[in-house]
Amino acid sequence: MQILVVKDYDAMSQQASHLIAQEMKKNPCAVLGLATGSTPIGTYKELIRMYREEHLDFSRITTFNLDEYAGLDTSHPNSYSYYMRVEFFDHINIKKENTHIPDGKIKDLNMCCRYYDQSIEQAGGIDFQLLGIGPNGHIAFIEPDEALSVHTNIVTLTKETIAANSRFFSSPDEVPRQAISMGVGSILQARKIVLLANGVGKAQAIKNLLASDKVSTQIPASFLYLHPQATIIVDEAAYSLVL
Ligand code: GLP
Repeated sequence: MQILVVKDYDAMSQQASHLIAQEMKKNPCAVLGLATGSTPIGTYKELIRMYREEHLDFSRITTFNLDEYAGLDTSHPNSYSYYMRVEFFDHINIKKENTHIPDGKIKDLNMCCRYYDQSIEQAGGIDFQLLGIGPNGHIAFIEPDEALSVHTNIVTLTKETIAANSRFFSSPDEVPRQAISMGVGSILQARKIVLLANGVGKAQAIKNLLASDKVSTQIPASFLYLHPQATIIVDEAAYSLVL
């Protein structure tokens, strides 16, 4: 696993967007795996700038998002579908039919999970997967547990994640308790993976992750050690507890 320590959030976003743009120029039909949360917003902003000022072309790009809250409609301001439209898709020339996000409102969530992995496969697999990290070491919504699902599945959010994500909701009670999340296997099949982490709030998670090269289901991000092309871009604040 390659680790790039950069100065701050802007440097992290610049670096990540540069890598994504490089991938897109090499392969204009690339399949991108996308993340939500505060971390990738700067990356999306920079990609939008590149689209506007440098004609970065999204017209043949396909995307798959990592996860979605169960029970939230795509029009709900806290759904990841809404986030992706407002923060990214509405500002670039991507075709709506080429963007994929699990449907949190569908009746048969299990079928949605199976269909999601099949769709990724049919698209030829993910070329470049962008990830954030939760304060408890989760990636997507793969929470620390005794065992982790390989495929896209329904997950129950931990108290820690509900608390961390409650900042986007009017109260912690409103945070959905379940979500649909890509599995560890779905993520590890991506050809390249880049995980972003910034700020002191992620320092403990990064310390735990880098403390050893052991894979642990208690630190879902540690599974990236098994990937031949995984990179972590971390800012100085998030790296501050690493000795
Ligand atoms: C959520 C998402 C993750 C994301 C994490 C960190 O739980 N499911 O994909 O990486 O939050 O979010 P943030 O970037 O807001 O710290």
